[in-house]
Amino acid sequence: MDKLDVLVVDDEAYVCLMLERMMQNLNFRVETVNDGYSAIEKADARDFDVVLCDINMPDLDGLTILKRIKRIQPYAVFIMISGYSSLESALKATELGAYDYLVKPFSFDQVRLSIHRGIENKKLLLANRRLLEDVQDMNKCLERKVEERTAELRKAYEQLKELDALKSNFLDLISHEVNSPITLISGYLDLLKRDIDNISKEELCRLLEGANQGTIRLKKIINDVMELITLEAGKPFRNLHKIDLRKVLEQNILRIKDTIRERSLKLIVERPDEPLLVMGDASRLQQAFHNVINNAIKYTPDDKSIFIALKKANRNQAELMIADEGIGVPRHLQDKIFHPFYEALDIKHHSSGETKFMGGGMGLGLPISHKIIAGHGGEISLKSKGYDKGSTFIIRLPLVKKTAKGK
Ligand SMILES: Nc1ncnc2c1ncn2[C@@H]1O[C@H](COP(=O)(O)OP(=O)(O)OP(=O)(O)O)[C@@H](O)[C@H]1O
Ligand SMILES: [Mg+2]
Repeated sequence: MDKLDVLVVDDEAYVCLMLERMMQNLNFRVETVNDGYSAIEKADARDFDVVLCDINMPDLDGLTILKRIKRIQPYAVFIMISGYSSLESALKATELGAYDYLVKPFSFDQVRLSIHRGIENKKLLLANRRLLEDVQDMNKCLERKVEERTAELRKAYEQLKELDALKSNFLDLISHEVNSPITLISGYLDLLKRDIDNISKEELCRLLEGANQGTIRLKKIINDVMELITLEAGKPFRNLHKIDLRKVLEQNILRIKDTIRERSLKLIVERPDEPLLVMGDASRLQQAFHNVINNAIKYTPDDKSIFIALKKANRNQAELMIADEGIGVPRHLQDKIFHPFYEALDIKHHSSGETKFMGGGMGLGLPISHKIIAGHGGEISLKSKGYDKGSTFIIRLPLVKKTAKGK
């Protein structure tokens, strides 16, 4: 047994002395006191493994001492000593946390055995307490994990709900965006078939042009979907050349010139005098710019302005800003519109036609631009103060690094 600290409490000096000797004999460290207050003072000052305490004492009785010391040292092994056997006081002592109850006269072996068992019991109690603490810790950990998982599940559920809404929106979109060109094609061809013998050449051209418009729209949809699938695969662009972004912009402006006139929009373009060189896939960059510029046209009412500025943002980046006075994008949707098939607008508000105000679309333009720009090591962002407050898209692309000679 380890060297134990034992406190002996007895008002009879000769009992104290005898117990002190016994403890020394067992190679324990021992302190003796003759009254209850001194015992409590000792227990206040330091820990004891064992307290041997007389039940009948003149000032504080043994049971009161037991109660008070147990409050300070709950794991101290209390062995009560009594001059006579009383079932009542033995029960009371056990109830208050005493481990054993010895009746005088007792033998050396009885004391030794009682202490030994008491210490073993204390070890068990402590081990139990540790186990309980471990279980409590594990429970807390488990609760935390359950909470985390619940939060993850809740988030996944919200995402699923959003995906579900997106899916129905997508189905509405598909039926609207794909069915309208198909209706055009089949409608015009039907007219042609019915009246083929009586149709004038002019009428024939008109009907064929109607069907042709349908095929152009259908082709755009298929091309966009195919392009997005290719971009999603994340393969690096292979057709890379040194390109002057001013030229890419110029081609875009040419492409929208007629629409700008038809829609009476005011277009202000600023470009730098110096070339802005990037390594890029010209036709893809052209497409990325066009999707954003075309949106500016599509979501800005007639007679309003669109402002486009190309410039060097800093030593390493070129910047294209496309700002419009259009319908704007609510803040909570500003990230979402870069995801495929996302439409900030209700499909019911679509008008048909790619460049008309609020003209319909598949919600693929921005995701395609985003992928193309990211594939060139650049970024695209949107600032809009909200509905009807206009939108400003900013595209940044890395400039070709100049060599030491400035070439
Ligand atoms: N300049 C803008 N002003 C207001 N809303 C915009 C603007 N640009 C994009 N949006 C919103 O973001 C959504 C997604 O744009 P995106 O270009 O991806 O799709 P789309 O124009 O609807 O169709 P698509 O480009 O496939 O023909 C649009 O439906 C529109 O609600
Ligand atoms: Mg678009």
